[in-house]
Amino acid sequence: MTMLYDNLGVNDQGHLTVGGLDTVALAEEFGAPLYVLDEDQVRANCRTYRQAMAEWMPAGSLPLFAGKALCFKGLYPVLEEEGMGADVVSPGEIYTALAGGFPAEKLYFHGNNKTDEDIAYALDCGVGCFIVDNHQELERLEQAAGARGHRQRVLLRVTPGIDPHTLQAINTGRIDCQFGVPIETGQAARFVADALSRPHLQVEGFHSHIGSQIFEAAPFCDAVDILLDFAHAMRQAHGFVARTLNLGGGFGVRYRESDPTVDIPGNIRALADHLRRGCETKGYPMPRVLLEPGRSIVANAGLTLYRVGGVKTIAGYRSYVTVNGGMTDNPRYALYQAPYTVLPASRMGETRDFLCTVAGRCCESGDLIQENVSLPQPARDDLLAVLTTGAYNFTMASNYNRLCRPALVMVRGGKARLAVRRQTFADLVACDL
Ligand code: LLP
Repeated sequence: MTMLYDNLGVNDQGHLTVGGLDTVALAEEFGAPLYVLDEDQVRANCRTYRQAMAEWMPAGSLPLFAGKALCFKGLYPVLEEEGMGADVVSPGEIYTALAGGFPAEKLYFHGNNKTDEDIAYALDCGVGCFIVDNHQELERLEQAAGARGHRQRVLLRVTPGIDPHTLQAINTGRIDCQFGVPIETGQAARFVADALSRPHLQVEGFHSHIGSQIFEAAPFCDAVDILLDFAHAMRQAHGFVARTLNLGGGFGVRYRESDPTVDIPGNIRALADHLRRGCETKGYPMPRVLLEPGRSIVANAGLTLYRVGGVKTIAGYRSYVTVNGGMTDNPRYALYQAPYTVLPASRMGETRDFLCTVAGRCCESGDLIQENVSLPQPARDDLLAVLTTGAYNFTMASNYNRLCRPALVMVRGGKARLAVRRQTFADLVACDL
């Protein structure tokens, strides 16, 4: 039987295994729905980036894990041990990373509307670098850093205007978007001049993020060309040389067998070669490179386990199989019609001849997990596994319908440990006065 990822298997009982552990046993021990994260896979993914960047990119180059993809305390020691930096987008993410023991100086603080409170909090925590999104932030950050007698390292977020042919809703490199300052309109040049005039800001270089679920190096190489032209022009205008180029995140993952496999080391090498050639042509000193992978670090390390509740066949239409979770723990089908592979975790050996739509339990007709799923004729209490849910599921979860958020279990070396406990009803009313 082919499996989407190497860390998945089937045992003698016909149960799906992850990291060598029986998913049926995991659901019995920790309950369902359940997020399962294979820590060994997360570590392997971090190493892929670390090694390729160490081999092909200039010294000081580093992958920063994008916490928007997955963020809980227990993840940060793993990232730290694997030598990663981290991209954070809110004081809550900063707090979580620090609570997990992550060093503040390896945090890169993003966000297109950092409030004065956010800026103060991040400065007081000693966040290593701000990725400044706009003039208003430059001004407030300059004041706040000055008030503390501090000079803050910053990168300037610019938009190169690349369309990497990805989902419109998660594509942020185009000119018409709310993040960063566009190069093409001349606004980014004024942004740089403004930043360089601020005595309490130490401008290190530029940042761009072109989109998500990208399978090749080519769109990143296009971004590099635009950024290098821009950097060259800024050197001519101001004598400013960018030491750092942060190319954002965005490498894709396989959600289905039909998706291509992304060659991350190959893409990193191609990107590095492209950058080196561009720098040589322009006589520009090769900057160190930062990347901000989120999805490609955690997506394939995660899966979600659900229990089947009902099975309803509407004659002449379709069959619905309902599970005990849904858009509250995974809103991605409802939001993006995102593809997923759904497996009958407790009945892997049986013929999958029942075509159905897997629906969640929320009071919302859009609450679907996936359509056109083939399962063995389902029965109540069957266990289903939705694969590749490690990214943008836990972090995008909600308490709609006052459903409790699932627990998250980490699996390492054939052992499972609870990393985030399931919410209780008491948690649901904890903030209600
Ligand atoms: N850096 C920046 C500045 C970003 O905006 C993002 C993602 C990343 C890094 C990480 O990108 P990744 O490597 O994960 O593709 N909620 C959507 C994804 C939104 C991504 C937004 N930015 C989803 O569920 O697909």
